[in-house]
Amino acid sequence: MRYLVTGAAGFIGSHLTRNLLLSGAEVVAVDNFSDYYSLDLKRARESNLISPLGLNISRIDLADGEQVTKLLNSYVFDSVIHLAAQPGVRVPLSQHQRYISSNLTAYANLLTKVRENSIPNFLYASSSSVYGNSNDQLFSEQGSITDPLSFYGATKLTNEVLARSGRHESPTRTRGLRFFTVYGPWGRPDMAYFRIIASLLNGFEFPQYGNGSVLRDFTFVDDAINAVVKLNVQLSSEEEGHSDVVNIGGGHPYSLMDMIETLQNLVAKKVKTNLSPTNPNDVIRTCADSQLLKSLVGTSPATSLEEGLSEVVKWAQRQDVQSKLTAWCESVS
Ligand SMILES: NC(=O)c1ccc[n+]([C@@H]2O[C@H](COP(=O)([O-])OP(=O)(O)OC[C@H]3O[C@@H](n4cnc5c(N)ncnc54)[C@H](O)[C@@H]3O)[C@@H](O)[C@H]2O)c1
Repeated sequence: MRYLVTGAAGFIGSHLTRNLLLSGAEVVAVDNFSDYYSLDLKRARESNLISPLGLNISRIDLADGEQVTKLLNSYVFDSVIHLAAQPGVRVPLSQHQRYISSNLTAYANLLTKVRENSIPNFLYASSSSVYGNSNDQLFSEQGSITDPLSFYGATKLTNEVLARSGRHESPTRTRGLRFFTVYGPWGRPDMAYFRIIASLLNGFEFPQYGNGSVLRDFTFVDDAINAVVKLNVQLSSEEEGHSDVVNIGGGHPYSLMDMIETLQNLVAKKVKTNLSPTNPNDVIRTCADSQLLKSLVGTSPATSLEEGLSEVVKWAQRQDVQSKLTAWCESVS
């Protein structure tokens, strides 16, 4: 099997690339090393997770159509797993070009070329953000969605609409992966758990938005990767041109306060917070309906928050990591 993984220097992409390489697959890994957060962290992921397995990440900007054409004409891929994007809901309006370039232009370039080349499987990262402030107890793929709260969520919903709309034009099967707050070692320094750990270990002041009551369905990265790998295998059994979206979350939401308490207990210290008003792009609650995922691959994310966070703390306490946590957090607001 030959895979293209985009966003391979990113959090989820670096873990996925490692997992695929360990399984014996051939992987072409690309990333444009965007400066949204620390490049040092992206290089550290490459040198810790990917290079030891004999692969380097190719620096390619998918927003450049010529680079995409060249890349896809250079190999025959069985599956393309597209994780490259501008993540996060809090990028200020003045920088929304980041979303336009990475989540719309790059996505459309890649999807078009994948279809032209009739690549069998195209899996792409969507997000729980597409659901906006849903009142539903469980967020299900069955309902129709029209109201994401953030521009980021709207770009991800656009990805889904584009994937579905062209399904009769090519044999390529497409599957949107609606990730629910993925966390783990080598994570993203704009995310709360990462910043809380930097605060507990190094005294970084944790900028807390709101009173901590927001609820998130946290997904441990190993569970997310396991789901992606299995969903790719299952997708191959669907008809040509098939298009769907699948939640990647376990359906067990915890509040930000729960997370802070769990981390404080694990480290036996109190976090130093700097309170800010709630960010208007943060939804109140997320909670995945995991039935579809379970029916497709037989399992859904099950690592408990405490277990997952203790893995992250262990990683963060490595000397080479702990010494950099604060700088990585300060690279992004
Ligand atoms: N981590 C989560 O909780 C979460 C939740 C929902 C959805 N997602 C989605 O999952 C995917 C991976 O997220 P992540 O947390 O690993 O983010 P990340 O920022 O760590 O990884 C994304 C990578 O994409 C690269 N990239 C951006 N624009 C590019 C372009 N034009 N060309 C090539 N590379 C480009 C970046 O340099 C980065 O390394 C993203 O699409 C994100 O929107 C993540």
